[in-house]
Amino acid sequence: MAGTRHAAITGWGMAMPDRILTNADLAEMVETSDEWIVSRTGIRERRIAGTQDTTTSLSVGAARQALDRAGITADEIDLIIVGTCTPDQFLVSQACLVQAELGGTAGAFDLGAACSGFVYALATGSQFVQTGLHNRVLVIGVDTLTRFVDYTDRTTCVLFGDGAGAVVLEATDEERGLLSTVLGADGAGNKHLYIPGWGAFVPESAELFPEYRPYLQMNGNEVFRFAVRVMGDAAAEAVEQAGLSFADVDMLIPHQANLRIIDAAARRLDLPRDKVWVNVDRYGNTSAASVPIALCEAEAAGKLAEGDNLVFVAFGGGLSWAAGVVRWGTEGVCRDPACRSRRGR
Ligand code: UT7
Repeated sequence: MAGTRHAAITGWGMAMPDRILTNADLAEMVETSDEWIVSRTGIRERRIAGTQDTTTSLSVGAARQALDRAGITADEIDLIIVGTCTPDQFLVSQACLVQAELGGTAGAFDLGAACSGFVYALATGSQFVQTGLHNRVLVIGVDTLTRFVDYTDRTTCVLFGDGAGAVVLEATDEERGLLSTVLGADGAGNKHLYIPGWGAFVPESAELFPEYRPYLQMNGNEVFRFAVRVMGDAAAEAVEQAGLSFADVDMLIPHQANLRIIDAAARRLDLPRDKVWVNVDRYGNTSAASVPIALCEAEAAGKLAEGDNLVFVAFGGGLSWAAGVVRWGTEGVCRDPACRSRRGR
């Protein structure tokens, strides 16, 4: 609705590690094959953080691109929110580590919703802009889950990759940015996808420690069933909440975990393949980074136009899910510094 404050996406960026791990590489490490991985997941290769890559360095790479694209500097940002489940350390927050590199004195905090983390963080950041509390928010989705992958476990090690994506949100009176928000969680399913032993919890008995090795644990079949259900339902609910029909959707930007899960979500919205952005084949599951990375690639491919309705949808550990319709474009965002100062900076 014009006249109401909205949070347009005015900048976007992504950063990937250079190192590529192919299905053929994995077939030399565990009992698997390119044929199995491609047919069950759609993944062909993924990027793996090297010793020089950190959650901080990837976040900063994506954030710098997003700031440049928005044409602003870090000290013009009011708030930094990092959606991640793999911060470089617990104290201090990942957001503060990012700010140390970028500069500025914006508020900074992390948000933990596993693979749904970016969409949760986008919803949170948009709220700060829509209420008028802030004018510019930097939202980052980043994960280096391969640090917690057991490369002797074929049921998980073929799935994950690392990366970061970021967006800048800026206030506008035009109907741009997030038009609807669907957030959900089923905490009872927390043991279907988790990393034990990487927190303050300590088991009572020392003998239990081996069980708490810090490797990602997953019940793939349960997560698959859950994902197929919530991805379609959450995306459909987001479209409806925005007052739109499926025919109004220009592009689905889904969490990239498994091609079969993405296809199921697309079928639920009755979308043809050319309206669904897929890059799981090249990056695998990059957790909280996957939606903003997909957004950046869809934009770079010239697939997004001013006023397009994009559907973001993600699921992950928690179990959690999140979706929203994003009206793409920067119409109505004031680029003039004088106007910016009138807006309270
Ligand atoms: O962001 C959320 C992250 N998690 C997910 O998205 C995971 C969601 N789940 C999935 O994507 C799928 O469940 C998987 C890709 C993990 C597994 O695919 P599936 O079609 O559900 O296979 P399955 O687990 O039912 O396993 C079928 C067979 C099993 O062998 P048996 O028992 O039939 O002899 C597995 O041991 O495939 C075997 N298998 C493999 N074989 C070759 C499991 N992993 C592999 C592998 N290579 N990497």
